[in-house]
Amino acid sequence: MPTHIGILTSGGDCPGLNAVIRAVVVKAIKRNGWRVTGILEGWKGLTREGTTRPMTLPEVSGILGLGGTILKTSRTNPLSKENGVAEVLQKTAHLKLDAVIAIGGEDTMGVAYALHEKGLPLIGVPKTIDNDLPGTDYSFGFDTAVNTVVQAIDRVRTTTEAHKRVMVVEVMGRHSGWIALQGGIAGGADAILIPERPTDLDEVCSLVVRRHEGGKDFSIVVVAEGAKVTADRSASSDGTLILQDLAKDDFGHVRLGGIGQVLAREIEKRTGYETREVMLGHVQRGGSPTAFDRYLCTRFGLKAVELIEQKQFGKMVSLQGNQIVAVSLADVAGKTKTVPADLFEEAAVFFG
Ligand code: F6P
Repeated sequence: MPTHIGILTSGGDCPGLNAVIRAVVVKAIKRNGWRVTGILEGWKGLTREGTTRPMTLPEVSGILGLGGTILKTSRTNPLSKENGVAEVLQKTAHLKLDAVIAIGGEDTMGVAYALHEKGLPLIGVPKTIDNDLPGTDYSFGFDTAVNTVVQAIDRVRTTTEAHKRVMVVEVMGRHSGWIALQGGIAGGADAILIPERPTDLDEVCSLVVRRHEGGKDFSIVVVAEGAKVTADRSASSDGTLILQDLAKDDFGHVRLGGIGQVLAREIEKRTGYETREVMLGHVQRGGSPTAFDRYLCTRFGLKAVELIEQKQFGKMVSLQGNQIVAVSLADVAGKTKTVPADLFEEAAVFFG
């Protein structure tokens, strides 16, 4: 019997998922003669009602540069459901899977680690535009998102400058400000707000005023959706998170978004400069992956198959420097990679 592997994509989608699927399927079938099954809609595909489909070489032909995921995705968390883990174990036994490749972000790696501890042979592949997974220099999708942000800033810059306005650009980043920092610096932002560093409104406004009094007549402020803003420097509060609504998903996450609008209103009120905002939202998660991401995804996929060949389970593939290596899921699960203070401080020379 040839080795039989399953592959799933879980959590928020991100450019490059199909490139990983393609690399896994091509190497598993062409090089090793294995059988590959696509598990549909993330972990949901391994629940009782979940569905799967056989993966063949024609299925993955032409998908290298395609955004989204041909396997679909969901934020289903088997750990949050009574008997959820047992269901997954039963389903994998029923499908006679020798190993599962789980492509996802921090939540997916947490589930993968828990299932691995229960005896499921698992390999993780780090995906998230937020770049907040530890153990890897970059998760795939981040580079594409940052390029989208830079293109957007380049575009809003001309209209902001023409109207002598302030423009607040809200980007994704729930717990970490990697997109805001890298996208903001590459786009020439005049102020950047990230979740790691609660910011006082007066501080942002004085940066804008300093710039305008220094001779500039427009400003670009980049804010991560998870940034916390305080209205009073003397207050002991850590800042307020702006939420879309209070409903939580299977992993306990609320929907963020809207801080840009609040910030724009406050900047205009406090400085008197006309201010607009733009929320880039899911535009950052859509479309075709960059060349960097396509190559990274391909190498991640090839490495995941190699780890299964070597029966090195409970690992996540990772980029360290120029090398694709394996790190233990135990060292990744439940952790978040945030922007270090010194990296933010070095960028601050461009603010105001
Ligand atoms: O996890 C990545 C992420 O892009 C976050 O930055 C963002 O808060 C979230 O996904 C949005 O997810 P959804 O598609 O469920 O609205």
